[in-house]
Amino acid sequence: MDNKKIVLSGIRPTGQLHLGNYLGALSNFVKMQNEGKYDSYYFIADLHALTTNPDPKELHTNVRHILAEYLAAGLDPEKSTIFVQSDIPEVSEMYLLLNMHVGIGELMRTAAFKDKARKALGITAPTQGDDDEDVAKEIIGASTNKRVNAGLLTYPTLMAVDILIQRADFVPVGKDQEQHLELTRRFARRFNSFYKVDYFNEPQNFNFGSAPVKVPGLDGSGKMGKSEGNCIYLVDDEKTIRKKVMRAVTDGGPTEPNQPMAEPVQNLFTILKLVGTPDKVEFFTEAYNNCSIRYGDLKKEIAEDIVAMTTPIRERILDIENDSAYLHRVLEMGAERARARAGKTLADVREIMGITKF
Ligand code: TRP
Repeated sequence: MDNKKIVLSGIRPTGQLHLGNYLGALSNFVKMQNEGKYDSYYFIADLHALTTNPDPKELHTNVRHILAEYLAAGLDPEKSTIFVQSDIPEVSEMYLLLNMHVGIGELMRTAAFKDKARKALGITAPTQGDDDEDVAKEIIGASTNKRVNAGLLTYPTLMAVDILIQRADFVPVGKDQEQHLELTRRFARRFNSFYKVDYFNEPQNFNFGSAPVKVPGLDGSGKMGKSEGNCIYLVDDEKTIRKKVMRAVTDGGPTEPNQPMAEPVQNLFTILKLVGTPDKVEFFTEAYNNCSIRYGDLKKEIAEDIVAMTTPIRERILDIENDSAYLHRVLEMGAERARARAGKTLADVREIMGITKF
């Protein structure tokens, strides 16, 4: 046993990964793994995906996709523990136990829950304020046959268990998950103080030494996300990538020197900085500032840089995805290691809570 700090993160299998997922999360997982400073755990949160009642076949395919994408991007089963959440039954048991210390009210006040519940019921957020009582009333009083399932409400409990059951120290997640991480710390403190133990530590977010990378979309505003149809998937082929980039939103071009950039153009430069070399960034910035820029050239450069970055990954994804025997082996190894650690925590938690044998 060594004393390396534990890093853990998971992705919900809701579709193929895009460049935003890769640059914002996955490539950093790989870097941290290869640094060798941490003991890393990366998993696919398939139980969390169930909160939106996906089609079973599609869910299974998505798990396979993400696993292949993890491996193709460089996660290495010899260096990291790579697993699927549902392969660790200890998680489900501890989820039941931890729920006994989680309040319905605090879950209902979680921003992600309110968003998703409103979406599920087809109601819009109130224009003035964001009254928690209103949300509760809307949800309880919803007279439609649509429903907000209990799994959606207890999503933060399950996520806390993912983290606490592996006794993780660092959890690299994006801004949208910070509140869930805060709840995890709160549940850990509450457990310790209720049972008068000093068992769980408080896991921290982890930003790889710099601010989290936000990859903009190609449609002029906001970040890259699968719902917006503005993204490039890791499995997109060269033609598709070129087509998507060439269609990206720009403006009419600068009309005076050193003009401030409009958001769509700024976004293209942000992408170029992420995928291209500094001299190209300098070249196009200069061209923008002296009004000689041709957006078509900028886009061509971006497209080629993306192609160069993702082509080897795509080729590996396609190979790995079809290698069921390999995927099976990887997950068997991962589950064994993840279960060993989870089993130890669960046994401790059961004992602390008084669920012990006679
Ligand atoms: N909720 C995370 C997301 O949607 C996924 C997730 C589930 C997770 N369990 C986790 C992330 C534990 C980090 C640690 O992005």
